[in-house]
Amino acid sequence: MASEKSLVSISQYGKDKILSILDRAAQFEQNPNQKILDGKVVATLFFEPSTRTRLSFETAANRLGARVIGFSDASTSSTTKGETLKDTITIVANYADVIVMRHFIEGAARYASEISKVPIINAGDGANQHPTQTLLDLYSIRKTQGKLDNLKVAMVGDLKYGRTVHSLINALSHFNPTFKFISPKVLELPNAYKLFCDEKGIKYEETSELNEDAIADADILYMTRVQKERFTDLFEYEKVKNIYVLTNKLLEGTKDNLRILHPLPRVGEIADEVDQNPKAYYFQQAQNGLYARQAVICDLLGV
Ligand code: CP
Repeated sequence: MASEKSLVSISQYGKDKILSILDRAAQFEQNPNQKILDGKVVATLFFEPSTRTRLSFETAANRLGARVIGFSDASTSSTTKGETLKDTITIVANYADVIVMRHFIEGAARYASEISKVPIINAGDGANQHPTQTLLDLYSIRKTQGKLDNLKVAMVGDLKYGRTVHSLINALSHFNPTFKFISPKVLELPNAYKLFCDEKGIKYEETSELNEDAIADADILYMTRVQKERFTDLFEYEKVKNIYVLTNKLLEGTKDNLRILHPLPRVGEIADEVDQNPKAYYFQQAQNGLYARQAVICDLLGV
């Protein structure tokens, strides 16, 4: 069974492991085209929609000389005939050397890793975890700030369902962060993550206001989308969907070194005008996903 060889949660990785992956990613940024995975097959199984994660994984594999199989829409797979996740993973593990999987059920990646004979990479499981997003986020933070330690990180938006937020809190816990959690009450960070911060001695504040004061001392402003697909009551979604919009005006009093990250897609929480602001870094962040994912694939394949 492959569970210990898989990446299902960023909590599997300590500080040294994270730093070694980031260093490897930096090497791939210098030279992304290396045929070191010649003969390998990477499967991408996406039971939920994706643009960046799937395409950057597939680009990562292609640029390293691997071949890619899989599906971007589970409705084209035998899942629609009633095939179980267990059977799907068992079959694909006979074809591929590593499986990248996104699934809408929390814990699906861990379950798959217990079945699969090849490594599973969690590309997002419901509202739970998105570990490779975290690695590219950390890469982006280190690249823009020159360090990971002792940063002030403001996280804004859907902190309840945002799996990228959950994974990033976990990983940054190695680097003595100070957090500001900015969300409406109905989307506040789950207690488990606040308890985690308490246990680690990590300082944090919570507020529902996104204003100049709230982000004045931030080094990183991590914006997130309100995730419509996680709401069981769309009336509740309508009440909060446009609650925050980041504008250039809001950024006027922020620190020079502030960089704005967003896992993307955005649906209005960052005004288009901000794209031209030198503090905007979300498009470069998405590009960094290629290098981080090249590093993760090679690490799990032992290359
Ligand atoms: N950040 C991220 O997971 O984007 P996609 O949903 O487009 O993969």
